[in-house]
Amino acid sequence: MAVEVAGRSSGGPAMAAAAGGCRAPLPAWWGMLRGLLLAVLAAGSCQGNSVERKIYIPLNKTAPCVRLLNATHQIGCQSSISGDTGVIHVVEKEEDLNWVLADGPHPPYMVLLDGSLFNRRVMQQLKGTSRVSGLAVTIAKPSPPQGFSPGLKCPNDGFGVYSKDYGPQFAHCNKTVWNPVGSGLSYEDFHFPIFLLEDANETQVIKQCYQDHNVPRDGSGPEYPLCAMQLFSHMHAVTSTVTCMRRSSLQSTFSINPEVVCDPLLDYNVWSTLQPINSSGKVDPEKEVVIVATRIDSHSFFWNIAPGAESAVSSFVTHLAAAEALHKASDVHLLQRNIMFTFFQGETFDYIGSSRMVYDMEKDKFPLRLDNIHSFVELNQVALRNDSVLWMHTDPVSRMNESVDVQVRNLLDILENSSLGANVTLQEAGFSQPLPPSSFQRFLRARHIPGVVLTDHRTTFQNRYYQSMYDTPENIRMQYPEGLSPEETLEYVTDTAKSLAEVATVVARALYRLAGGANTTSAIQADPKTVSRMLYGFLIKMNNSWFQSIIKPDLKGILGDVPQHYVAVSSPVNTTYLVQYVLANLTGTIVNFTKDECLNPEKSPNSETDMYDYAWVQGSLDPNLTSRVPYCVRSTVHLSKALSPAFELRQWGSTEYSTWTESRWKEIRARIFLVASRELEIITLVVGIAILVFSLLATYFINAKADVLFSIPRDPGAVAY
Ligand SMILES: *[C@@H]1O[C@H](CO)[C@@H](O)[C@H](O)[C@H]1NC(C)=O
Ligand SMILES: *[C@@H]1O[C@H](CO)[C@@H](O)[C@H](O)[C@H]1NC(C)=O
Ligand SMILES: *[C@@H]1O[C@H](CO)[C@@H](O)[C@H](O)[C@H]1NC(C)=O
Ligand SMILES: *[C@@H]1O[C@H](CO)[C@@H](O)[C@H](O)[C@H]1NC(C)=O
Ligand SMILES: *[C@@H]1O[C@H](CO)[C@@H](O)[C@H](O)[C@H]1NC(C)=O
Ligand SMILES: *[C@@H]1O[C@H](CO)[C@@H](O)[C@H](O)[C@H]1NC(C)=O
Ligand SMILES: *[C@@H]1O[C@H](CO)[C@@H](O)[C@H](O)[C@H]1NC(C)=O
Ligand SMILES: *[C@@H]1O[C@H](CO)[C@@H](O)[C@H](O)[C@H]1NC(C)=O
Ligand SMILES: *[C@@H]1O[C@H](CO)[C@@H](O)[C@H](O)[C@H]1NC(C)=O
Ligand SMILES: *[C@@H]1O[C@H](CO)[C@@H](O)[C@H](O)[C@H]1NC(C)=O
Ligand SMILES: *[C@@H]1O[C@H](CO)[C@@H](O)[C@H](O)[C@H]1NC(C)=O
Ligand SMILES: *[C@@H]1O[C@H](CO)[C@@H](O)[C@H](O)[C@H]1NC(C)=O
Repeated sequence: MAVEVAGRSSGGPAMAAAAGGCRAPLPAWWGMLRGLLLAVLAAGSCQGNSVERKIYIPLNKTAPCVRLLNATHQIGCQSSISGDTGVIHVVEKEEDLNWVLADGPHPPYMVLLDGSLFNRRVMQQLKGTSRVSGLAVTIAKPSPPQGFSPGLKCPNDGFGVYSKDYGPQFAHCNKTVWNPVGSGLSYEDFHFPIFLLEDANETQVIKQCYQDHNVPRDGSGPEYPLCAMQLFSHMHAVTSTVTCMRRSSLQSTFSINPEVVCDPLLDYNVWSTLQPINSSGKVDPEKEVVIVATRIDSHSFFWNIAPGAESAVSSFVTHLAAAEALHKASDVHLLQRNIMFTFFQGETFDYIGSSRMVYDMEKDKFPLRLDNIHSFVELNQVALRNDSVLWMHTDPVSRMNESVDVQVRNLLDILENSSLGANVTLQEAGFSQPLPPSSFQRFLRARHIPGVVLTDHRTTFQNRYYQSMYDTPENIRMQYPEGLSPEETLEYVTDTAKSLAEVATVVARALYRLAGGANTTSAIQADPKTVSRMLYGFLIKMNNSWFQSIIKPDLKGILGDVPQHYVAVSSPVNTTYLVQYVLANLTGTIVNFTKDECLNPEKSPNSETDMYDYAWVQGSLDPNLTSRVPYCVRSTVHLSKALSPAFELRQWGSTEYSTWTESRWKEIRARIFLVASRELEIITLVVGIAILVFSLLATYFINAKADVLFSIPRDPGAVAY
């Protein structure tokens, strides 16, 4: 009979606990021990739920460091599968590290690291101890004056042109170390999670929690409960691209639902030509083309944090402005040579975009062949000119060939002449110096093409924040007066914009000459207003009225606030689309097509769909701010795939082509909460186990006596539910 009663009524508290509610205490006739156990269970479950509801504080503005892999290594960070937890300790000066590394009584610690201490020396110390379970890094304001670059000292080493067979004296940055402040942190493997705290107010919330609970007092440790942090960033892929791609491909052979653990970094290059060419045919072998190029991607230690102001935006904005200026010139359709404007994606990761284009040209999968290339001009970090000097870098190895040297000299002369009268002084970087890291190197690997790389640095980068989160508009000295509305800021012409427009003018004039133009070039002039708008859109706020008016209606979603230029694995990324539509706006023409004609141009006569691309864009808001007036833009802008040939060829261990992949993950999040003491946790655990055993026993008895219990209900009211 006792069994029957206990079995029956145990449904009540159990169900209540499962539903997350808190029920009243137990009937008095319960056994002393069982009553106690169940009371603890009920109290424990209620407390657990209220902790979940009231004390866990999710961190909403964070960026994780994730795992990337190449042919041989894994880099980046990860947490354990259920997230890593530790007691928070704020480290604002190096002395604070002692607590974490040696003195603190409550390891493991989650270190809240001040941005100014996020350097190699500190990271080595944290890496070498098991007392650290993770790291949250704040952004230093102002940016570290001594510079900060988690990139390599010798970027893209081994994938450019210099090797033991080609200019061995220049290989591995022997002559010039381009990025001396580079710490290489981005290329290391960390066994704990690292997150960036993007929002100063959230950082303050954490610091407050630390102040209230964790501050060591009078040398003795703080008392429980303590403020803790939990970081989730478990990564599925391990070891290397070879390992993870082989695993995926094996699975896809045997399984319908292969479990993919890593994806190649990939996107699209954007290209267009001054005179339209048949994009599905082949350009005449005799036809010569001048290539202008820049990269459009950047990187930092943290996933999808890549402002790239100097390392990418300054150059591609200048490039876009030059393209606009050239298209406006009256006689460009008469030029003897065509000009191709080329924007490479994924260059940060061992030249993904340019290596693919060269590969496609070699394999006849591109309208141009390498033989069509007359010369190559690349813009690469041009915003931080010292005394207006723009440096011209050439390749000393290919110039040892007489005929290449003659063509390179011609190229340099044309550039120098084009700068006369402009506020840009062009100077040669010197014959004894190799090319800086540049897409042009991938073309040189294939053929001795005459070319030049234009930069604001002669030897080491002027940019002290190469591939870091500090490569922001401030880094290229963009300043706006106080109190401008977003619309006024969009149109405000900064000094940076004026200076980049000068460079664009010089480049456009030089390209005109290179293409065989004989007229005076004084009419070719880049527009500082356009440059201003682009700088604002690509660096400060994508969601501005100009970008809104020039994109397709279904792309509205890509206009977030602060732009980031990471290449990623789902493509095209926002930057690619925006470069595409800005280029179409600046170099295209508006055609009088209806929406239907624009979306299906092949149906209209004379639309020449092989030569042109048509885009139905949103248009600007009418003065009533209620509706937009869409229109059709015709341009020569095209996209071409930027996936490393290594994946096309399934050579995942390639040393010739980029092999970078990004691991997949399930969840990335961070939160803080209070932890009770270890003793309390152990008591909770023991009680939990006791209850488990008890309920198993109870279930067993109920099962065993089910016939007795349920067949003859004693009280009809009790079976109502
Ligand atoms: C670096 O260049 C110097 C000549 O400038 C050469 O003597 C030396 O062997 C080179 N080192 C390597 C590792 O190639
Ligand atoms: C892969 O990356 C690591 C870390 O940057 C580097 O040491 C290694 O040389 C790279 N492997 C290849 C094949 O490029
Ligand atoms: C931070 O808090 C202050 C005052 O509470 C507020 O004015 C500011 O807008 C907040 N900043 C952010 C980025 O939310
Ligand atoms: C994050 O957002 C949630 C829900 O809006 C809020 O309760 C929480 O306080 C936020 N976190 C921080 C650290 O502000
Ligand atoms: C473009 O090239 C394709 C393939 O060679 C050809 O079929 C097509 O007629 C060409 N289009 C034009 C406009 O020349
Ligand atoms: C700028 O150039 C001057 C000489 O022309 C030189 O003294 C100065 O160090 C340079 N500044 C930087 C930042 O390179
Ligand atoms: C040229 O540029 C420098 C700085 O880049 C500036 O100080 C100077 O005023 C400019 N001169 C002209 C004529 O624009
Ligand atoms: C030079 O420009 C004039 C008009 O500005 C044009 O008629 C002429 O064709 C151009 N000449 C060349 C060689 O481009
Ligand atoms: C990029 O576009 C996606 C939608 O495709 C959007 O969710 C995201 O916020 C955009 N990124 C930025 C930085 O604006
Ligand atoms: C480019 O954008 C501007 C501003 O929205 C607009 O006035 C112009 O007509 C556009 N041009 C083309 C070719 O789309
Ligand atoms: C555009 O085309 C429509 C019909 O297709 C015609 O009625 C209209 O006049 C044209 N507008 C212009 C500016 O050519
Ligand atoms: C603005 O709205 C008013 C009334 O809603 C309308 O009469 C007028 O035509 C609109 N103007 C434009 C340019 O759409």
